[in-house]
Parts: sequence; C-alpha cells; structure tokens
Amino acid sequence: MLGSLNIGLLGLGTVGGGVFQLLQQNSDVITQKLGRPLNICRILERNMDRVRQLGVDPGLVTSDPGIVLNDPDIDIIIEVIGGVELAREFILQALSNGKSVVTANKDLLALHGKELFEAAAAHNCDLFFEASVGGGIPIIRPLKESLAANRICQVMGIVNGTTNYILTKMSREGRDFDEVLKEAQELGYAESDPSSDIEGDDAARKMAILASIAFGSRVTYPEVYREGISRLSVQDIKYASNLGYAVKLLGIAREDEQGVEVRVHPALLPLEHPLAAVNDVFNAIFVEGDAVGDTMFYGRGAGAMPTASAIIGDVIEAARNRQHRDCIRSSCTCFYNKPLKPMGEVISKYYLRLIVADRPGVLAAIAGVFGARGVSIASVIQERTIGDLAELVLITHLVREQNLQDALKALADLPVVNEIASMIRVEGGPSN
Ligand code: NDP
Ligand code: HSE
Repeated sequence: MLGSLNIGLLGLGTVGGGVFQLLQQNSDVITQKLGRPLNICRILERNMDRVRQLGVDPGLVTSDPGIVLNDPDIDIIIEVIGGVELAREFILQALSNGKSVVTANKDLLALHGKELFEAAAAHNCDLFFEASVGGGIPIIRPLKESLAANRICQVMGIVNGTTNYILTKMSREGRDFDEVLKEAQELGYAESDPSSDIEGDDAARKMAILASIAFGSRVTYPEVYREGISRLSVQDIKYASNLGYAVKLLGIAREDEQGVEVRVHPALLPLEHPLAAVNDVFNAIFVEGDAVGDTMFYGRGAGAMPTASAIIGDVIEAARNRQHRDCIRSSCTCFYNKPLKPMGEVISKYYLRLIVADRPGVLAAIAGVFGARGVSIASVIQERTIGDLAELVLITHLVREQNLQDALKALADLPVVNEIASMIRVEGGPSN
C-alpha cells in the first residue's frame, strides 16, 4: 500500500469538524477505496474551544495560514473557513504551490470562479467543489460528467436547507420564524450570517454555479435575480395549501432561444410536484436534459456530516488524479458567453393577495387593469372580509413578468385597492 496522502484543513467549524470526524469514523473504508490512508497533518483554526471539543491534537493546529499552505508535504488543501477574500487568497496560494484544492465555498465560486479555475488549470491542479451546492447531494460531478452528453434545458431545485427547514416547520407546525431559524442555526445548517440564507443569496450563489455548468456559460452571483422568504406570511402559506400548493424557496435556471434565465424566489408548487414533498433540511435538484429527460437529485442539503461526505468524495477523486498525474478533470466548462434574460421577460403564473374595498364594481375595476395589460386571471377567491375591506386571492395564467409588474403598479394607484399584500410566482404547472 502507498504511504498516506497528506491534507491541510483550513477551518474546523461545522463542516471542518465533520470532515475531521468522518475521516476518523470511516478511515478503514476510505483507505480501502483509495488504496492509501488520508491523513490530516495540519489544521488552520483560531477557535481553540472547537479544537478541544473535537479532541483534535493541538499540535496539528495553527493560526498561521502559511504553515499549512506552504508545507511541502501537503498534497491537498480543504478550504472550509468560508468568506470570500481570505479564502480566495488561500486557495490561489495553495494552487500556486501545486496543491489540489477542495472547497465548499459557494460565496467565493459564484464571484471568482473564473479566476480560480484558470489558476487551477495553470498549475495543473484540481479544484473540486461538490459540497458547494446541495450539501451531501452529488450534483456537480453528475452535471459535469454523467450528463455531459446532454443539452440541459432546465435546472430547478430547492438548494437551501435552512429556508426549507424553516418553511417546513412554519407550514406543518405553524411555528414562529425566529424560533425555527434559531433551531436551524444550532443544527449547523445556517451560514455564519443567516440573512444570506433567508434573503435568497445563498441559493442564488448555488444557482449561479449550477447554471454556469448546465449551460456552459458563466453566471455570477450578482446576475441572479433573488428574493428571500422574509416577507412570506403564514397567511399565504395557509391559503396556498388550501389551493393545493406548497410554498418553497426555488432556484430556477432555464435556457431557451431568448437566452438564459436564473432566479431564486419563493414559489407556489402544486402539491403533486416532486419538489413539493421535499421537506426539512432536504434539498432536491431537478435536471432536464434533451437525451436523459427528467432526473432528480435528493438528499441532505446542509449539516456537518452530509457536507463532509461530499468533501471527502472530492478529496478521494483529487487524490486519485494526483496518483495518475491527471489533474485537469475539474477544468472550467464555460465555453460560451450566453445572454442573460432580464427578469421582465420571464414568463410565469402569479399568486396575488389584494386587500380591496368590499363594494360593487371593485372586481370589474381590477379586471380592467389586468385586461389592459394582457394579464389573464385563472381564479379569484374572496378569502375573508375585514371591516369594509375584502381580501382577494387571485391566480393568473402564464404572463410576462413585466406585464404583471405594470399591472401591479396601476392597481396600487386604484383608489379601491387598499394594499397589494403579496405576489408569489407559481411554478411547476403543466407549461412551466
Ligand atoms: P463555520 O463558521 O462553522 O466554520 C469556519 C471555521 O473557520 C470557524 O471555526 C472559524 O473560526 C474558522 N476560521 C475562519 N477564518 C479563519 C482564519 N482566518 N484563521 C483561522 N480560522 C478561521 O462555517 P461552516 O463550517 O458552516 O462553513 C464553512 C464553509 O462551508 C462555508 O463556505 C459555507 O458556506 C460552506 N458550507 C456550509 C455548509 C453547512 O451546512 N454549514 C454546507 C455546505 C457548505 P471563528 O469561529 O473564530 O470565525
Ligand atoms: N446554509 C446553507 C443551507 C448550507 O442552509 O443550505 C449548505 O450550503
């Protein structure tokens, strides 16, 4: 058997701790599959409480990144400190020292992917990132390799575990948003700044990564349209459920003749849609290819052990590549420069909740505004009256987003409309 392959671990937080534990727990199977042991020989961490809690030998730990990044005995660096600038600097330094890199850092890849992949290619090193999307779910390698023969027309999924956990608990148990968020943080699902989960940024970063691979054209995080779940009300979740829908934070990436659209926002999904049944911290990603048809990837989207599973899978692949001196398998696959569709051109159905005056002629006035802008109403329900106001829930047929936005602007100016309380897109029906 070959001697051990040495790893430098940057970060011993939730994910780094999971990597450390999984390498101990399954060292026998990992050694057997790789044909040599994996050995964490240096760790960058500044939180010594974590080091003690995990029973890590303090002699392995340093707060000086150079000691890990410049150690000539280290073959592979695992970056799980998170954040953008320092992580970018550390990865570039590791690659320029000829080390392969495995990272879970979607924040970094969705902004600086191009630079990092070019550096990896220039130094003939691997840069793997399976854990950056979908936690433990294999999705990056299947998209890049197993589905390489396809033209991908759609990737749609639930790609944030924290928000899916919160939405599940809110809709099933009627629990309070803040209480469930705290629980998700304690379970290690949330980002260090959980607003990035709640406001859709984390999912947008993951969709930028998936869209770039799926369509072979780089999409960066700032280009992804995003809305989070902070403005969703329990009332809308309840009404949606009565109408036969689940409310999910969805990531959608599609390509058609007009270009590529990439967006993240809450959406109503018919209860019979496979993604509607994805609950708690689970993620699922639906991929449609012209040859394979529909495929769905499902599993735990966050947490120490699932994420460590994806990371160590990448380490094993990088280790094999180093053994065979073939470190270009992770090279960039963005061969094109495809235009991105503006959000106004997106076609969707919409759920709307309006608070309006409860008197004759109001519905006709609202219908007139919609009709004049080409928005066709599929259903209207008067849910309840509140004094002299009525609460209306409408669902539209498919319409261009800009037409809908124009109609909402005009509605807001109608004296009979008291409030446009919600607008949520409806996905997953027969034609979207
Ligand atoms: P944590 O904050 O739990 O862990 C990061 C650790 O790195 C902390 O202990 C932190 O110390 C330490 N650290 C950060 N910077 C430095 C530095 N300059 N020197 C020494 N130590 C440092 O984050 P996670 O483990 O949750 O996430 C890590 C990465 O994995 C992120 O990119 C995240 O987006 C990604 N990820 C996370 C998942 C999850 O389920 N949590 C799932 C998939 C991806 P300190 O606490 O003092 O800051
Ligand atoms: N905060 C992320 C989530 C971690 O909740 O999905 C996994 O990337």
